[in-house]
Amino acid sequence: MSLTGKHVLSSELFDRDELERLFSLADLLVPVARGRKVARVLEGAVMASLFFEASTRTRLSCESAFLRLGGGVLSCTNAELMSISKGESYADTSRVVSGYCDLMVVRHPDDDAVHEFMAATNVPVINGGNGAGEHPTQALLDMFTLHREFGRDGRGLDGRRVALVGDLRYGRTVHSLINLISLYEDLTIVCVAPAHLGMPVALLERAEMRGHRIELSESPEIALKDADVVYATRLQTERFGGGPVSYGEEFRIDKSLVSRVCRADTVIMHPLPRDSRAGSNDLAMDLNSDSRLAIFRQTDSGIPVRMALFASVLGVAEQIPDALRPATWYRPEYTGPDDAPFYRNTAL
Ligand code: ASP
Ligand code: CP
Repeated sequence: MSLTGKHVLSSELFDRDELERLFSLADLLVPVARGRKVARVLEGAVMASLFFEASTRTRLSCESAFLRLGGGVLSCTNAELMSISKGESYADTSRVVSGYCDLMVVRHPDDDAVHEFMAATNVPVINGGNGAGEHPTQALLDMFTLHREFGRDGRGLDGRRVALVGDLRYGRTVHSLINLISLYEDLTIVCVAPAHLGMPVALLERAEMRGHRIELSESPEIALKDADVVYATRLQTERFGGGPVSYGEEFRIDKSLVSRVCRADTVIMHPLPRDSRAGSNDLAMDLNSDSRLAIFRQTDSGIPVRMALFASVLGVAEQIPDALRPATWYRPEYTGPDDAPFYRNTAL
């Protein structure tokens, strides 16, 4: 399968070969993401990012990825300042903007709006998050993170125990992630959610049909035991009116829980943002200096993965090896205070 010219609305687009091809390309692009090398394969290309919902990571990392490959970016973050506020349809908006760019990234609180954008243009549309539906590029970066975490011990992802924790009903990242992770083999997927916030049945059935063991639980204390991966998520309060505003304390993944039930090599993830307000009971800050916490390795992974995706969709992936050359500006050796161990032994 070639990704060239494809819309990327769902994780269902990918098979395992395509994922692994993207990861090899993303591995090559890590030095570009870190400002050590340059590869201007998208020089002259323009991306439009249309975000109708809050975002820090997805918009800025898509834009950074496109810019680092030499492209340019048009960014729209406020629907009130777009002519949609004068009654213009998504279809007209999409057709108009597609005349200004080569690729669009769209985030919208409604599940269907990205499909309306897609239907009105031939320019590839990338889903940056559609309501409680999917977030396919987040799942790609989550999978790339796992590819690198488990690449370190050489065993890979097959046969692992993966715990997805929190609001699995409205959390779109886990919907895309369960689809991508189940392309691997012989997994135990443990879905740990409060009552009424469980993983949609259709997604569980698909993973089961692919031969994985599914376990359901409402208790992180029990379900996280022996997990290779713990993927925590934020309660999606913006998606349901009048529901709970925080998780119960038993869902708080903190130092105390992790030291009681997790292994020394468990990988702890979260798509972010985590809700760090008092009483939210989201993933706790007291794990920040624990090297099992992979959340910032996830965010760093967002750049090379999205570069690999854009290069593939725009048909320039094969030019990358020859386009790589050293960058000449100053960059600190590590990105954050706790990153040093993960930058060692990494080919820059
Ligand atoms: N940032 C992710 C999303 O947009 C997760 C979250 O917001 O909780 O889906
Ligand atoms: N993970 C993620 O999508 O983050 P943002 O909502 O900040 O883009």
